[in-house]
Amino acid sequence: MSLHLSVYGVEKSYGGDPVLKGCSLSLDRSGIYVLTGANGSGKSTLLRVCALLEEPDRGTVEYSSGGIALAKNISLRRRVTLVLPRAGVFSTTVFNNAAYGLKIRKMERRKIDEKVNDALDFVGLKHKAKQDARTLSSGETQRLGLARALVTEPEMLFLDEPTSSVDPESTTVLEGSILSLGKESGKTIVVTTHDKEQAQRLADFLLIMERGRVRRL
Ligand SMILES: Nc1ncnc2c1ncn2[C@@H]1O[C@H](COP(=O)(O)OP(=O)(O)OP(=O)(O)O)[C@@H](O)[C@H]1O
Ligand SMILES: [Mg+2]
Repeated sequence: MSLHLSVYGVEKSYGGDPVLKGCSLSLDRSGIYVLTGANGSGKSTLLRVCALLEEPDRGTVEYSSGGIALAKNISLRRRVTLVLPRAGVFSTTVFNNAAYGLKIRKMERRKIDEKVNDALDFVGLKHKAKQDARTLSSGETQRLGLARALVTEPEMLFLDEPTSSVDPESTTVLEGSILSLGKESGKTIVVTTHDKEQAQRLADFLLIMERGRVRRL
């Protein structure tokens, strides 16, 4: 049963400055939602709230499946992942970085190898598996961030500016990965971007953040 998210009337202020002002959003269909909006309009804030990493001051964030609301516990959190553009890397190989989420889930070694190799292949980093992750270029680091999220097979995936410092070639690789993920049944992806053409290429649903609220385009 696929995961739905309903955000209703969310307000969030920092130091008295309101960012989200009664923001509502319904992610009730799988596919790719692209969220655009000006710098500082609150896109990243909304993604953190949606990914259960930050509590809103007011309003509700409710995940459900088959019409049944889900408790915000560890098993729900494992189905939801936020990937940040400058994801920190651990000082070990690319492979070990990508394997992290599976190791903490205590998955068996052979399965980890298989899933990590698939994910690295998917983002075009398989040939870098043995390299120290700290020596990757910034575009490669962004792709590693995506691979690290993918191995755990999240159903709701939030990608905050996944191609912000990525060259055109790698952007094409990443967009291809995002598009094919978006076609997998039951997967919902929310991507933020400032690139209008990218938004058109990726979006099943286009959203814009304006005056503290999300509007469907
Ligand atoms: N933890 C925080 N403490 C203080 N202010 C914050 C915090 N997080 C966000 N803000 C402020 O909230 C506003 C919205 O920030 P946010 O990062 O959500 O915008 P954004 O739409 O993602 O912008 P960009 O397009 O530049 O990434 C900004 O003015 C930012 O400075
Ligand atoms: Mg942002």
